[in-house]
Amino acid sequence: MAPPKLHTLFCLSGFLALVHPFDWRDLDPVTYIQSSVWIQRIQSELLITSFGHTTIPKGNGPYSVGCTDLMSGYTNQSSFLRLYYPSQDNDFPDALWIPNEEYFQGLTETLGASSFLGKLLKLLYGSVKVPAKWNSPLKTGEKYPLIIFSHGLGIFRTMYSAIGIELASHGFIVAAVEHRDESAAATYYFQDPSAAQSGNRSWIYYKHQEPETEERKTQLRQRGEECSQALSWLLSIDEGEPVKNVLDLKFDIQQLKGSLDRSKVAIIGHSFGGATVIQALSEDQRFRCGIALDPWMFPVGEDVHSKIPQPLFFINSEYFQSDKDTKKIEKFYQPQKERKMIAVRGLVHHNFVDITFATGKIIEQLLSVKGNIDSEVAINLITKASLAFLQKYLGLDKNFDQWNSLMEGDDENLIPEVIVPTTLQSDPGAEQRNLD
Ligand SMILES: *[C@@H]1O[C@H](CO)[C@@H](O)[C@H](O)[C@H]1NC(C)=O
Ligand SMILES: *[C@@H]1O[C@H](CO)[C@@H](O)[C@H](O)[C@H]1NC(C)=O
Repeated sequence: MAPPKLHTLFCLSGFLALVHPFDWRDLDPVTYIQSSVWIQRIQSELLITSFGHTTIPKGNGPYSVGCTDLMSGYTNQSSFLRLYYPSQDNDFPDALWIPNEEYFQGLTETLGASSFLGKLLKLLYGSVKVPAKWNSPLKTGEKYPLIIFSHGLGIFRTMYSAIGIELASHGFIVAAVEHRDESAAATYYFQDPSAAQSGNRSWIYYKHQEPETEERKTQLRQRGEECSQALSWLLSIDEGEPVKNVLDLKFDIQQLKGSLDRSKVAIIGHSFGGATVIQALSEDQRFRCGIALDPWMFPVGEDVHSKIPQPLFFINSEYFQSDKDTKKIEKFYQPQKERKMIAVRGLVHHNFVDITFATGKIIEQLLSVKGNIDSEVAINLITKASLAFLQKYLGLDKNFDQWNSLMEGDDENLIPEVIVPTTLQSDPGAEQRNLD
Protein backbone atom coordinates (compact mmCIF):
# COMPACT_ATOMS: atom_id res chain seq x y z
CA MET A 1 0.00 0.00 0.00
CA ALA A 2 1.29 3.45 -0.85
CA PRO A 3 2.21 5.71 2.05
CA PRO A 4 -0.42 8.42 1.52
CA LYS A 5 -3.12 5.83 1.85
CA LEU A 6 -1.41 4.41 4.88
CA HIS A 7 -0.96 7.71 6.53
CA THR A 8 -4.55 8.56 5.85
CA LEU A 9 -5.54 5.30 7.38
CA PHE A 10 -3.43 5.62 10.43
CA CYS A 11 -4.27 9.22 11.17
CA LEU A 12 -7.91 8.67 10.62
CA SER A 13 -8.15 5.44 12.51
CA GLY A 14 -5.88 6.76 15.20
CA PHE A 15 -8.10 9.66 15.84
CA LEU A 16 -11.25 7.69 15.27
CA ALA A 17 -10.25 5.29 17.97
CA LEU A 18 -11.18 7.92 20.47
CA VAL A 19 -14.49 8.69 18.97
CA HIS A 20 -15.46 5.09 18.55
CA PRO A 21 -18.09 3.76 18.14
CA PHE A 22 -19.33 6.71 16.15
CA ASP A 23 -18.38 7.29 12.59
CA TRP A 24 -17.89 11.00 12.13
CA ARG A 25 -18.89 10.77 8.48
CA ASP A 26 -22.41 9.82 9.43
CA LEU A 27 -22.81 12.59 11.91
CA ASP A 28 -24.39 15.91 11.42
CA PRO A 29 -21.97 18.31 13.11
CA VAL A 30 -24.73 20.32 14.74
CA THR A 31 -26.44 17.44 16.48
CA TYR A 32 -23.05 16.14 17.23
CA ILE A 33 -22.07 19.23 19.18
CA GLN A 34 -25.40 19.42 20.92
CA SER A 35 -25.25 15.89 22.10
CA SER A 36 -23.90 16.09 25.60
CA VAL A 37 -24.02 12.32 25.80
CA TRP A 38 -21.60 12.34 22.98
CA ILE A 39 -19.24 14.75 24.61
CA GLN A 40 -19.31 12.66 27.78
CA ARG A 41 -18.54 9.65 25.74
CA ILE A 42 -15.52 11.37 24.24
CA GLN A 43 -14.35 12.50 27.63
CA SER A 44 -14.61 9.06 29.12
CA GLU A 45 -12.72 7.61 26.18
CA LEU A 46 -10.13 10.27 26.74
CA LEU A 47 -9.84 9.36 30.40
CA ILE A 48 -9.38 5.72 29.59
CA THR A 49 -6.64 6.51 27.15
CA SER A 50 -4.80 8.88 29.41
CA PHE A 51 -4.88 6.47 32.32
CA GLY A 52 -3.74 3.57 30.23
CA HIS A 53 -0.37 2.74 28.85
CA THR A 54 -0.78 5.44 26.30
CA THR A 55 1.44 8.42 26.77
CA ILE A 56 4.65 9.07 24.94
CA PRO A 57 7.36 7.43 27.04
CA LYS A 58 10.08 9.33 28.88
CA GLY A 59 13.56 8.77 27.58
CA ASN A 60 15.38 5.82 29.14
CA GLY A 61 18.82 7.43 28.90
CA PRO A 62 20.73 9.30 31.62
CA TYR A 63 19.99 12.86 30.37
CA SER A 64 16.93 14.99 31.05
CA VAL A 65 15.42 16.16 27.79
CA GLY A 66 14.55 19.68 26.72
CA CYS A 67 12.61 20.78 23.66
CA THR A 68 12.32 23.98 21.66
CA ASP A 69 11.46 25.17 18.15
CA LEU A 70 13.86 27.05 15.91
CA MET A 71 13.28 28.97 12.68
CA SER A 72 16.23 30.41 10.82
CA GLY A 73 14.66 33.30 8.90
CA TYR A 74 11.74 34.79 7.05
CA THR A 75 10.36 33.29 3.82
CA ASN A 76 9.37 29.72 3.17
CA GLN A 77 12.97 28.81 2.46
CA SER A 78 14.11 29.20 6.03
CA SER A 79 14.86 26.19 8.21
CA PHE A 80 12.21 25.19 10.70
CA LEU A 81 12.88 22.52 13.24
CA ARG A 82 12.01 21.09 16.61
CA LEU A 83 15.03 20.46 18.77
CA TYR A 84 15.27 17.75 21.44
CA TYR A 85 18.39 18.09 23.55
CA PRO A 86 20.06 17.06 26.84
CA SER A 87 18.86 19.63 29.34
CA GLN A 88 19.53 20.72 32.86
CA ASP A 89 17.30 19.03 35.34
CA ASN A 90 14.64 21.51 36.30
CA ASP A 91 10.97 22.15 36.49
CA PHE A 92 10.11 23.70 33.18
CA PRO A 93 6.71 22.64 31.78
CA ASP A 94 6.41 19.81 29.27
CA ALA A 95 6.28 20.73 25.58
CA LEU A 96 3.00 20.70 23.67
CA TRP A 97 2.76 17.80 21.26
CA ILE A 98 0.78 19.56 18.49
CA PRO A 99 1.35 23.24 19.05
CA ASN A 100 -1.04 25.03 16.68
CA GLU A 101 -4.66 24.54 15.67
CA GLU A 102 -3.68 24.69 12.00
CA TYR A 103 -1.86 21.37 12.32
CA PHE A 104 -5.15 19.69 13.21
CA GLN A 105 -6.73 21.48 10.30
CA GLY A 106 -3.91 20.31 8.06
CA LEU A 107 -4.31 16.72 9.19
CA THR A 108 -8.01 16.71 8.43
CA GLU A 109 -7.47 18.38 5.07
CA THR A 110 -4.79 15.82 4.29
CA LEU A 111 -7.34 13.15 5.12
CA GLY A 112 -10.00 14.85 3.03
CA ALA A 113 -12.24 15.12 6.08
CA SER A 114 -14.42 18.02 7.18
CA SER A 115 -12.95 20.93 9.08
CA PHE A 116 -15.24 20.00 11.92
CA LEU A 117 -13.07 16.97 12.58
CA GLY A 118 -10.12 19.33 12.90
CA LYS A 119 -11.88 21.21 15.66
CA LEU A 120 -12.77 17.99 17.40
CA LEU A 121 -9.21 16.75 17.21
CA LYS A 122 -8.00 20.03 18.63
CA LEU A 123 -10.38 19.55 21.52
CA LEU A 124 -9.13 16.02 22.12
CA TYR A 125 -5.43 16.45 21.51
CA GLY A 126 -4.78 20.18 21.72
CA SER A 127 -3.34 20.02 25.22
CA VAL A 128 -1.45 16.73 25.01
CA LYS A 129 2.15 17.16 26.16
CA VAL A 130 5.31 15.21 25.54
CA PRO A 131 7.87 14.39 28.27
CA ALA A 132 10.46 17.01 27.28
CA LYS A 133 10.92 20.32 29.10
CA TRP A 134 9.89 23.25 26.96
CA ASN A 135 12.72 25.78 26.51
CA SER A 136 14.66 24.40 29.45
CA PRO A 137 18.39 25.30 29.35
CA LEU A 138 20.81 23.05 27.51
CA LYS A 139 23.10 20.95 29.67
CA THR A 140 26.36 22.63 28.71
CA GLY A 141 29.95 21.47 29.16
CA GLU A 142 29.69 18.60 26.71
CA LYS A 143 29.74 18.26 22.93
CA TYR A 144 26.85 16.28 21.56
CA PRO A 145 26.56 14.33 18.33
CA LEU A 146 23.80 15.68 16.07
CA ILE A 147 20.93 13.91 14.36
CA ILE A 148 18.81 15.51 11.67
CA PHE A 149 15.36 13.84 11.53
CA SER A 150 13.00 13.88 8.53
CA HIS A 151 9.25 13.26 8.92
CA GLY A 152 6.87 11.21 6.76
CA LEU A 153 4.22 12.27 4.29
CA GLY A 154 1.16 14.11 5.59
CA ILE A 155 2.47 14.79 9.09
CA PHE A 156 4.95 17.28 10.56
CA ARG A 157 7.99 17.86 12.77
CA THR A 158 6.48 17.13 16.19
CA MET A 159 5.16 13.65 15.44
CA TYR A 160 8.28 11.64 16.26
CA SER A 161 8.84 12.86 19.78
CA ALA A 162 9.12 9.32 21.19
CA ILE A 163 12.20 8.66 19.07
CA GLY A 164 13.56 12.22 19.43
CA ILE A 165 13.25 12.18 23.21
CA GLU A 166 14.77 8.72 23.56
CA LEU A 167 17.82 9.68 21.49
CA ALA A 168 18.24 13.03 23.29
CA SER A 169 18.09 11.22 26.64
CA HIS A 170 21.16 9.30 25.49
CA GLY A 171 23.12 12.46 24.77
CA PHE A 172 22.21 13.50 21.23
CA ILE A 173 20.90 16.77 19.92
CA VAL A 174 18.05 15.83 17.60
CA ALA A 175 16.75 18.34 15.06
CA ALA A 176 13.40 17.31 13.55
CA VAL A 177 12.97 19.45 10.45
CA GLU A 178 9.58 20.45 9.11
CA HIS A 179 9.56 20.20 5.34
CA ARG A 180 8.24 23.03 3.19
CA ASP A 181 7.74 20.91 0.06
CA GLU A 182 3.98 20.66 0.59
CA SER A 183 4.32 17.12 1.91
CA ALA A 184 3.68 18.15 5.52
CA ALA A 185 0.07 18.26 6.70
CA ALA A 186 0.78 21.87 7.58
CA THR A 187 3.75 24.11 8.22
CA TYR A 188 4.27 27.84 8.50
CA TYR A 189 6.70 30.68 8.08
CA PHE A 190 6.69 34.42 8.68
CA GLN A 191 6.85 36.79 5.76
CA ASP A 192 8.78 39.49 7.63
CA PRO A 193 9.81 40.61 11.11
CA SER A 194 6.55 42.43 11.76
CA ALA A 195 4.56 39.31 10.85
CA ALA A 196 6.73 37.36 13.28
CA GLN A 197 6.21 39.95 15.96
CA SER A 198 2.45 39.95 15.61
CA GLY A 199 2.35 36.15 15.20
CA ASN A 200 0.88 36.42 11.71
CA ARG A 201 1.82 33.02 10.32
CA SER A 202 1.73 32.13 6.64
CA TRP A 203 0.59 28.52 6.39
CA ILE A 204 1.55 25.96 3.77
CA TYR A 205 -0.75 22.95 3.67
CA TYR A 206 -0.46 19.47 2.23
CA LYS A 207 -0.77 19.36 -1.54
CA HIS A 208 -3.01 16.56 -2.74
CA GLN A 209 -1.69 14.50 -5.61
CA GLU A 210 -1.45 10.90 -6.69
CA PRO A 211 1.05 9.03 -4.49
CA GLU A 212 3.42 8.08 -7.27
CA THR A 213 4.06 11.15 -9.39
CA GLU A 214 7.23 12.68 -10.75
CA GLU A 215 6.68 15.60 -8.41
CA ARG A 216 7.53 13.32 -5.49
CA LYS A 217 11.07 13.22 -6.80
CA THR A 218 11.21 17.01 -6.87
CA GLN A 219 9.86 17.05 -3.33
CA LEU A 220 12.50 14.54 -2.31
CA ARG A 221 15.28 16.75 -3.63
CA GLN A 222 13.87 19.71 -1.73
CA ARG A 223 13.62 17.59 1.41
CA GLY A 224 17.26 16.54 1.10
CA GLU A 225 18.34 20.15 0.66
CA GLU A 226 16.28 21.21 3.66
CA CYS A 227 18.12 18.65 5.80
CA SER A 228 21.49 19.95 4.60
CA GLN A 229 20.41 23.54 5.14
CA ALA A 230 19.27 22.79 8.70
CA LEU A 231 22.62 21.13 9.34
CA SER A 232 24.55 24.14 8.01
CA TRP A 233 22.50 26.49 10.14
CA LEU A 234 23.02 24.47 13.33
CA LEU A 235 26.75 24.25 12.63
CA SER A 236 26.89 28.03 12.22
CA ILE A 237 25.11 28.48 15.56
CA ASP A 238 27.65 26.08 17.06
CA GLU A 239 30.44 28.26 15.68
CA GLY A 240 28.97 31.25 17.43
CA GLU A 241 27.78 33.16 14.38
CA PRO A 242 25.26 35.83 15.33
CA VAL A 243 22.04 34.14 14.30
CA LYS A 244 18.54 34.75 15.53
CA ASN A 245 15.62 32.45 16.20
CA VAL A 246 12.74 34.11 14.38
CA LEU A 247 10.36 32.41 16.82
CA ASP A 248 11.69 34.50 19.70
CA LEU A 249 11.24 31.82 22.35
CA LYS A 250 12.68 31.78 25.84
CA PHE A 251 15.39 29.35 24.80
CA ASP A 252 18.61 31.32 24.27
CA ILE A 253 20.25 29.84 21.18
CA GLN A 254 23.65 31.19 22.22
CA GLN A 255 23.74 28.19 24.55
CA LEU A 256 24.23 26.02 21.49
CA LYS A 257 27.55 27.64 20.77
CA GLY A 258 30.25 24.99 21.05
CA SER A 259 27.67 22.32 21.91
CA LEU A 260 28.02 20.13 18.84
CA ASP A 261 30.47 17.37 18.14
CA ARG A 262 30.76 18.72 14.62
CA SER A 263 32.09 15.66 12.85
CA LYS A 264 29.50 13.35 14.41
CA VAL A 265 26.40 13.99 12.39
CA ALA A 266 23.83 11.42 11.30
CA ILE A 267 20.46 11.52 9.60
CA ILE A 268 17.34 9.50 10.44
CA GLY A 269 13.89 9.62 8.86
CA HIS A 270 10.68 7.66 8.43
CA SER A 271 8.76 6.72 5.27
CA PHE A 272 9.13 9.72 2.89
CA GLY A 273 11.66 10.82 5.50
CA GLY A 274 13.43 7.46 5.07
CA ALA A 275 13.74 8.25 1.36
CA THR A 276 15.02 11.68 2.42
CA VAL A 277 17.78 10.01 4.45
CA ILE A 278 18.96 8.20 1.34
CA GLN A 279 18.76 11.37 -0.76
CA ALA A 280 20.62 13.50 1.79
CA LEU A 281 23.39 10.92 2.26
CA SER A 282 23.97 10.90 -1.49
CA GLU A 283 24.23 14.69 -1.66
CA ASP A 284 25.95 15.62 1.57
CA GLN A 285 28.96 13.80 2.96
CA ARG A 286 28.72 15.68 6.25
CA PHE A 287 26.10 13.08 7.14
CA ARG A 288 28.44 10.34 8.28
CA CYS A 289 25.78 7.63 8.38
CA GLY A 290 22.02 7.25 8.07
CA ILE A 291 19.10 5.24 9.40
CA ALA A 292 16.09 4.82 7.12
CA LEU A 293 12.99 3.79 9.06
CA ASP A 294 10.64 1.92 6.73
CA PRO A 295 11.67 4.09 3.77
CA TRP A 296 9.22 4.73 0.94
CA MET A 297 11.37 3.63 -1.97
CA PHE A 298 9.30 4.97 -4.87
CA PRO A 299 10.79 8.50 -5.00
CA VAL A 300 14.38 7.28 -4.53
CA GLY A 301 16.31 7.76 -7.79
CA GLU A 302 17.44 4.64 -9.67
CA ASP A 303 21.15 5.47 -9.48
CA VAL A 304 21.30 6.91 -5.95
CA HIS A 305 22.52 3.59 -4.52
CA SER A 306 25.88 4.12 -6.20
CA LYS A 307 26.39 7.53 -4.56
CA ILE A 308 26.34 6.53 -0.91
CA PRO A 309 29.66 5.50 0.60
CA GLN A 310 28.34 6.14 4.13
CA PRO A 311 26.98 3.35 6.33
CA LEU A 312 23.23 2.90 6.00
CA PHE A 313 20.83 1.02 8.26
CA PHE A 314 17.32 0.02 7.21
CA ILE A 315 14.89 -0.63 10.06
CA ASN A 316 11.63 -1.82 8.58
CA SER A 317 8.21 -2.90 9.68
CA GLU A 318 7.29 -6.44 8.87
CA TYR A 319 5.14 -5.91 5.78
CA PHE A 320 5.49 -2.41 4.33
CA GLN A 321 8.09 -3.00 1.63
CA SER A 322 6.93 -4.62 -1.59
CA ASP A 323 9.18 -7.01 -3.53
CA LYS A 324 9.94 -4.12 -5.85
CA ASP A 325 11.07 -1.96 -2.91
CA THR A 326 13.22 -4.78 -1.56
CA LYS A 327 14.90 -5.17 -4.95
CA LYS A 328 15.66 -1.45 -4.91
CA ILE A 329 17.07 -1.73 -1.39
CA GLU A 330 19.24 -4.69 -2.41
CA LYS A 331 21.09 -2.43 -4.86
CA PHE A 332 22.47 -0.49 -1.91
CA TYR A 333 24.39 -3.59 -0.89
CA GLN A 334 27.82 -3.43 -2.47
CA PRO A 335 31.19 -4.71 -1.37
CA GLN A 336 33.02 -2.43 1.06
CA LYS A 337 29.86 -0.58 1.97
CA GLU A 338 28.35 -0.90 5.40
CA ARG A 339 24.72 -1.88 5.08
CA LYS A 340 22.43 -3.36 7.67
CA MET A 341 18.78 -4.24 7.63
CA ILE A 342 16.36 -5.59 10.18
CA ALA A 343 12.59 -5.76 10.36
CA VAL A 344 10.55 -5.59 13.53
CA ARG A 345 8.11 -8.45 13.89
CA GLY A 346 4.46 -7.41 14.16
CA LEU A 347 5.27 -3.77 13.47
CA VAL A 348 3.24 -1.77 10.97
CA HIS A 349 4.33 1.28 9.01
CA HIS A 350 2.97 4.02 11.24
CA ASN A 351 4.20 2.46 14.51
CA PHE A 352 7.26 4.69 14.16
CA VAL A 353 5.06 7.76 14.62
CA ASP A 354 3.93 9.10 18.02
CA ILE A 355 0.34 8.43 17.16
CA THR A 356 1.01 4.84 18.18
CA PHE A 357 1.18 6.06 21.80
CA ALA A 358 -1.38 8.80 21.75
CA THR A 359 -4.21 6.65 20.65
CA GLY A 360 -3.94 4.20 23.46
CA LYS A 361 -5.04 0.66 24.03
CA ILE A 362 -8.47 1.10 22.55
CA ILE A 363 -7.12 1.18 19.06
CA GLU A 364 -5.38 -2.14 19.50
CA GLN A 365 -8.70 -3.88 19.80
CA LEU A 366 -10.39 -1.81 17.19
CA LEU A 367 -8.53 -1.67 13.98
CA SER A 368 -5.62 -3.26 12.30
CA VAL A 369 -3.73 0.03 12.19
CA LYS A 370 -1.61 -0.97 15.09
CA GLY A 371 0.75 -3.88 14.79
CA ASN A 372 0.60 -6.72 17.27
CA ILE A 373 3.76 -5.65 19.04
CA ASP A 374 3.61 -3.34 22.05
CA SER A 375 4.51 0.19 20.93
CA GLU A 376 6.96 0.80 23.72
CA VAL A 377 8.75 -2.51 23.13
CA ALA A 378 8.96 -1.66 19.44
CA ILE A 379 10.29 1.87 19.93
CA ASN A 380 12.83 0.49 22.41
CA LEU A 381 14.14 -2.01 19.89
CA ILE A 382 14.26 0.60 17.15
CA THR A 383 16.11 3.17 19.24
CA LYS A 384 18.55 0.70 20.85
CA ALA A 385 19.49 -0.80 17.50
CA SER A 386 19.89 2.79 16.22
CA LEU A 387 22.09 3.77 19.18
CA ALA A 388 24.35 0.76 18.58
CA PHE A 389 24.64 1.71 14.91
CA LEU A 390 25.35 5.36 15.72
CA GLN A 391 28.04 4.45 18.23
CA LYS A 392 29.74 2.16 15.75
CA TYR A 393 29.69 4.48 12.74
CA LEU A 394 30.02 7.87 14.42
CA GLY A 395 32.74 6.46 16.65
CA LEU A 396 31.08 7.37 19.96
CA ASP A 397 32.55 6.58 23.32
CA LYS A 398 29.36 5.31 25.01
CA ASN A 399 27.96 1.98 26.08
CA PHE A 400 25.52 1.55 23.20
CA ASP A 401 27.57 -1.38 21.92
CA GLN A 402 25.69 -3.47 24.49
CA TRP A 403 22.93 -3.50 21.84
CA ASN A 404 25.13 -4.51 18.91
CA SER A 405 23.28 -7.80 18.50
CA LEU A 406 20.05 -5.90 17.77
CA MET A 407 21.71 -4.37 14.71
CA GLU A 408 22.04 -7.92 13.43
CA GLY A 409 18.41 -8.70 14.19
CA ASP A 410 19.24 -10.96 17.12
CA ASP A 411 16.05 -10.73 19.17
CA GLU A 412 12.78 -12.64 19.21
CA ASN A 413 10.98 -9.54 17.96
CA LEU A 414 13.42 -8.84 15.15
CA ILE A 415 13.93 -10.39 11.76
CA PRO A 416 17.50 -10.22 10.42
CA GLU A 417 17.60 -9.37 6.72
CA VAL A 418 20.77 -10.65 5.18
CA ILE A 419 21.54 -9.55 1.66
CA VAL A 420 24.59 -10.64 -0.30
CA PRO A 421 26.22 -7.63 -1.97
CA THR A 422 25.89 -7.28 -5.72
CA THR A 423 29.11 -7.67 -7.64
CA LEU A 424 31.33 -4.76 -8.55
CA GLN A 425 30.74 -5.40 -12.27
CA SER A 426 27.14 -4.35 -11.94
CA ASP A 427 28.22 -0.99 -10.58
CA PRO A 428 31.46 0.22 -12.12
CA GLY A 429 30.91 3.64 -10.54
CA ALA A 430 31.25 2.17 -7.07
CA GLU A 431 34.70 0.81 -7.80
CA GLN A 432 35.77 4.19 -9.07
CA ARG A 433 34.56 5.93 -5.95
CA ASN A 434 36.14 3.40 -3.65
CA LEU A 435 39.44 4.27 -5.26
CA ASP A 436 38.87 7.97 -4.76
C1 LIG B 1 7.82 29.76 -1.45
O1 LIG B 1 8.20 31.05 -1.87
C2 LIG B 1 8.51 31.14 -3.24
C3 LIG B 1 9.07 32.52 -3.48
O2 LIG B 1 8.28 33.49 -2.88
C4 LIG B 1 7.27 30.81 -4.06
O3 LIG B 1 7.55 30.88 -5.44
C5 LIG B 1 6.79 29.41 -3.69
O4 LIG B 1 5.59 29.12 -4.35
C6 LIG B 1 6.59 29.28 -2.20
N1 LIG B 1 6.32 27.89 -1.90
C7 LIG B 1 5.31 27.51 -1.14
C8 LIG B 1 5.17 26.06 -0.93
O5 LIG B 1 4.53 28.29 -0.64
C1 LIG C 1 -0.96 38.76 7.78
O1 LIG C 1 -0.10 38.60 6.67
C2 LIG C 1 -0.76 38.60 5.42
C3 LIG C 1 0.26 38.31 4.35
O2 LIG C 1 1.37 39.15 4.43
C4 LIG C 1 -1.45 39.93 5.20
O3 LIG C 1 -2.14 39.93 3.96
C5 LIG C 1 -2.43 40.17 6.35
O4 LIG C 1 -3.00 41.44 6.22
C6 LIG C 1 -1.72 40.05 7.68
N1 LIG C 1 -2.69 40.11 8.74
C7 LIG C 1 -2.57 40.93 9.79
C8 LIG C 1 -3.63 40.84 10.82
O5 LIG C 1 -1.62 41.68 9.93
